[in-house]
Amino acid sequence: MIKNVGIIGSGTMGSGIAQVAATAGCMVKLYDTKQAALDKSKAALEKILNRLIQKGRIDEAEKERIQGNISYVNTLKDLRDSDLTIEAIIENLDIKQKVFSELETYVSDDAIIASNTSSLSIASIASSLQKPERCIGIHFFNPAPLMKLVEVIPAIQTSKEVLEKATQTIADWKKVVAVAKDTPGFIVNRVARPFYGESLRIYEEGLADFETIDNALKTLGKFRMGPFELMDFIGNDVNYTVTETVFTAFYFDSRYKPSFTQKRLSEAGYLGRKTGKGYYDYDENGKRVTLSADIERSQNTDSHNSELSQQIFNRVLVMLINEAADALFLNIASAEDIDNAMTKGVNYPKGLLAWADEKGIDWCVKTLDDLYDEYHEDRYRCSPLLRKMNRQKTKFFN
Ligand SMILES: NC(=O)c1ccc[n+]([C@@H]2O[C@H](COP(=O)([O-])OP(=O)(O)OC[C@H]3O[C@@H](n4cnc5c(N)ncnc54)[C@H](O)[C@@H]3O)[C@@H](O)[C@H]2O)c1
Repeated sequence: MIKNVGIIGSGTMGSGIAQVAATAGCMVKLYDTKQAALDKSKAALEKILNRLIQKGRIDEAEKERIQGNISYVNTLKDLRDSDLTIEAIIENLDIKQKVFSELETYVSDDAIIASNTSSLSIASIASSLQKPERCIGIHFFNPAPLMKLVEVIPAIQTSKEVLEKATQTIADWKKVVAVAKDTPGFIVNRVARPFYGESLRIYEEGLADFETIDNALKTLGKFRMGPFELMDFIGNDVNYTVTETVFTAFYFDSRYKPSFTQKRLSEAGYLGRKTGKGYYDYDENGKRVTLSADIERSQNTDSHNSELSQQIFNRVLVMLINEAADALFLNIASAEDIDNAMTKGVNYPKGLLAWADEKGIDWCVKTLDDLYDEYHEDRYRCSPLLRKMNRQKTKFFN
């Protein structure tokens, strides 16, 4: 089992990953170029652990054990004993490559060097190393201590041993592993695109307002948050950038086309909760400000338009299913890992492939074909896998 873990970058993700590794019993060295970031990380951990004590989840001794397992360091060289280093610094290829090639001069020959990147290819990061076979993607979700899923992404250079060791370590840290191919968005950030994109498209066509779309997905789909609430929560700048990055990385496949509506919000600084305004308005505590006119309008749409709500839900769901099926078709990950990724990484109420089985593969194909017939747009093309399964009358899970 891996004992010494180095973490580079003590921001949101690095701090969370350090907590996870320290809780699992690893000796963690957390490095950042900024002393203020290290101090902030230390103070934040103290607060989190105190809250866990208050809730009765851990005791004082456990808090001390976790804190005792983390040391805060301010040179990269301090990570030289690390058997595994996970980098969580700024999302910039040049900077990551420089840090990786410097780190490699300090660590032992069989040390694993991993990146938590969300959008860069692992192959491009690995290429900065003398021994690229030691590099792998280990992608946590925010907040890392709470989200069960970790995507593990071997690059084409990664050795089998490194993949096995990384997968085992993440399982030892009590996380659910989904192994993904080194492709844009890995699993979650690719498969989730239609949740936002199709909802925005429905809005842009003037079929429904934000509230009606959110309500349809929450009531009929049992999603915890509607797409517009979620985009406001994530930040329209962040969510737009992910979409644009995925769209570009897929050589402009129209299925991932970003939306002008979201771009304008982002340009206007209507970023969501963090700026007090996005698709909705928020007070200074980040709570939704609901105007009475909104309530009246949403009650009207709810009672008069259950058929519209069903249409909205079906359309977003089938696009998500199509994306999940296509990810399986293109061997991005196994069916189990694709479903686990969405339920454990972004809290979907059901795995999308299991959902497809439940709705019927014939329903999925027909709903997609109807959309394609109506729009004649490539974004509605049905995955060849769904079509084949429909012909052969098979399901994803038996
Ligand atoms: N925030 C998320 O939801 C999320 C989720 C998954 C993955 N990621 C990925 O994780 C990485 C970090 O994201 P974050 O949100 O934690 O960022 P952040 O801005 O909160 O933290 C980054 C930290 O890295 C430090 N840093 C910058 N350059 C450095 C260097 N050369 N050496 C050492 N430290 C350096 C900064 O001082 C800062 O403290 C990115 O690659 C991002 O794509 C983010």
